[in-house]
Amino acid sequence: MQSLRKRLVLAGLTAILVGSPYLTAHAATANAPTGQRLRNLAGNFLIGYAAMSNFNTASDSAKYQEVARTEFNFVTPENAMKWDATEPSQNNFTFGGADQLVNFAQANNQKIHGHTLVWHAQTPDWVTYGNWNSSTLTNVMYNHIDKVMNHWSDGQIYAWDVVNEAFEWNGTRRASVFQNVIGNSYIELAFRRARAADPVTKLIYNDYGIETVNSKSTGVYNMIADFKSRGVPIDGVGLQMHLSGTGIDYNSLAQNMQRFANIGVEVYITEMDVGISSTSSSNLTAQANVYSNVLARCKAQPMCKALQVWGIPDKYSWRTEHPLLFDDNYNAKPAYYAIQAGIGNGTTPTNTAVPTATRTAVPTATRTAVPTTVPGTATPVVPTSTPVAGAGCQVSYVLNQWGTGFTAEVTVKNTSTNAINGWALAWTFGGNQQVTNAWNATISPASGSVVASNVSYNASIPAGGSVSFGFQGSYSGTNSVPASFTLNGTTCSGS
Ligand code: G3I
Repeated sequence: MQSLRKRLVLAGLTAILVGSPYLTAHAATANAPTGQRLRNLAGNFLIGYAAMSNFNTASDSAKYQEVARTEFNFVTPENAMKWDATEPSQNNFTFGGADQLVNFAQANNQKIHGHTLVWHAQTPDWVTYGNWNSSTLTNVMYNHIDKVMNHWSDGQIYAWDVVNEAFEWNGTRRASVFQNVIGNSYIELAFRRARAADPVTKLIYNDYGIETVNSKSTGVYNMIADFKSRGVPIDGVGLQMHLSGTGIDYNSLAQNMQRFANIGVEVYITEMDVGISSTSSSNLTAQANVYSNVLARCKAQPMCKALQVWGIPDKYSWRTEHPLLFDDNYNAKPAYYAIQAGIGNGTTPTNTAVPTATRTAVPTATRTAVPTTVPGTATPVVPTSTPVAGAGCQVSYVLNQWGTGFTAEVTVKNTSTNAINGWALAWTFGGNQQVTNAWNATISPASGSVVASNVSYNASIPAGGSVSFGFQGSYSGTNSVPASFTLNGTTCSGS
């Protein structure tokens, strides 16, 4: 993680000089925040924090715990459940720190997010430098998953980061003892074992730098889409969200979350912090705006279930750049009030447009096709989106392709003034594309001139509304966005 830290420190951290609705009213050093506590405003939404290991022994632990229990309904141990803490030597399991936190969380009605079972870092040397072959290391990994997960009863830990940070920036697999010795299959093996150990808990893949659509997030997406298509158990993806005051492309964040949602994967913002170079007013405002925008996109996506901040006061953060919601003295910062303002219903981003794509239901169809490439080894192509405007409909077709495989995410907007009840979107593939499976639509035939028809739960498109569906396929030669579409016989292209 040293390189990530360096990247974040060097990231420029140029503040965005925009006016803040939060700063003026709350710049004074009020020790207790004004307004309601975050967890009281959150409803079913999970607002979480990472608990430091000495949450109950630090000199200011009373204050720390007061903020922890009053503000949050979800908690991740920052370090206490990692491999070096739970199995420091082989088959010697120690849960003292983790148990204390679990007790604290349960006493305060907080759900628990376990972090993390399999990771290249904070793994003891006896694992990293052991003399393993694939079989012996797999058994070591299985034993760790079994013993750690079974220390708590089924579902007592609401969600588990099963595998953490297994991808490189270019979307390929990161080298680690697990990757090097077991190979690509280790992630799948870990998820299958975790499901066997606890059939109730949510199983999450967690990583940094996968917040927006990019090569790394596409590598992760392809792996999870493959898992979903083959029945490998996985429930969620964790977007860590270690950012700077310049923020990220929020529309790309929304697009990224939507593609995970489309394959039935929940999204968790797992480790949010926003570094700033100083606590000047403009930097604090920029920081608040980043929190506000990320929260707004998460709240706009029904499959985004949680936002967790990676610590409580700045002084205990792993970063020196004042990245959290509370300053060193537990005073709420503008970032806190940004979360407070947005965590209820009806939140609106402060400096960019709300994405217009309609959020769709979790796909219910069973997906059986097996992708033709090994996820994680392909070279992903940056997605392209081609909006096609027409009299009564507008189509967005987002293509991700690798090797000889691809996925397409299609959003159809009804731009007429009449509702549509029952829809069929037709197009002709320009090359040798073959649809292998689809979600939120039925597609027939599989190649050539095809028609995507609604399924039972998305037949209606209100005037001005839209539906989204997607499919997976293979191709040879060129794979391009179809030239035109018709919706119920009406041409959506300009022709
Ligand atoms: O507990 C020991 C202490 O006894 C010793 O005196 C001291 C000396 O360095 O080290 C203490 O352990 C440190 C531990 O944090 C607890 O403070 C480790 O050195 C230090 O490496 C460790 O850093 C953690 C880091 O993960 C390790 O990779 C950070 O607290 C933690 O915030 C950070 O969290 C990670 C997530 O797990 C995964 N995503 C990125 C995130 C940020 O790096």
